[in-house]
Amino acid sequence: MSHALDASGAGSDTPNLDFAGTTPYEDYVQADVLTHLQHLRSDDPGEMVFLVTTQVMELWFTVIVHEWETAAKALREDRVPVAMDALKRSLRELEALNASWRPLAQLTPAQFNSYRSALGEGSGFQSAMYRRMEFMLGDKSASMLVPHRGAPRVHAELEKALHEPSLYDEVLRLLARRGLPVPASVLDRDLSQRYEPSPQVEAVWTELYADPDGQPDLHRLGEVLTDVAELVWRWRNDHLVATRRAMGAKTGTGGSAGVTWLEKRAQKNVFPELWTARSHV
Ligand code: HEM
Repeated sequence: MSHALDASGAGSDTPNLDFAGTTPYEDYVQADVLTHLQHLRSDDPGEMVFLVTTQVMELWFTVIVHEWETAAKALREDRVPVAMDALKRSLRELEALNASWRPLAQLTPAQFNSYRSALGEGSGFQSAMYRRMEFMLGDKSASMLVPHRGAPRVHAELEKALHEPSLYDEVLRLLARRGLPVPASVLDRDLSQRYEPSPQVEAVWTELYADPDGQPDLHRLGEVLTDVAELVWRWRNDHLVATRRAMGAKTGTGGSAGVTWLEKRAQKNVFPELWTARSHV
């Protein structure tokens, strides 16, 4: 193939131009698929960035779920450094996810109205990958499967995630294996239910934080989880503020009360005991 390029003047130090089929880049990245998934519903020029930002966020959700699943598996196998690497990657990814609010953060009501009606009842509330993230964080809810009854693959993946230990469940099991008094009621909990904060778990984190050098890897794990929690909280708050700017107190396309509903969601603490334990150290 390279001699054809030489004949056209391209030297061996220039990129290859000649491929029998699609390019190896395309075969790997599927850019042609990815860049033709933007099916706009209005003539408004501002709809494109709304749709693509949503798609970009879905991709980041997918990567982050992958990292947290890697971390959960590594914790189950007592491979704390492998889990730490995955969690640290997820911090940079959460930052990139949060930065992708920028193009939507200053939408005016008139701009949003230009394509809002075209969304019908569509809402991020129906994002299955976001729900997987919440499940990994311990925020389980069987009712969140209901919107996905019509999509068998998505429903099956969410149902599996509902019944699996969350990232936080794996952390607490690890702490128990490392000799910390995590109560049996927490270790044997019904995994399909939302994780409820426990005073004994708070005491375990207090102990770890009071003596950071006692089990330094577990203290570092606590801090990286706190970073995850903070960045998830920031995503929820950036979403809340963008929504308040774009639509004030109107009801959501998904049927909720809108901003007041999102305010309640943004108040939820990720890994609650990691925050409350700080008052006792
Ligand atoms: C500025 C544009 C946006 C507005 C005005 C907006 C508005 C809303 C509203 C009102 C809700 C509550 C549910 C409902 O009634 O619809 C909601 C939920 C949600 N939105 Fe957005 N949204 C925006 C952009 C996005 C983007 C780009 C994403 C990225 C995927 C997204 C993801 C979500 C998710 C995951 C929920 C569910 C949150 C939860 O369950 O706690 N939103 N949005």
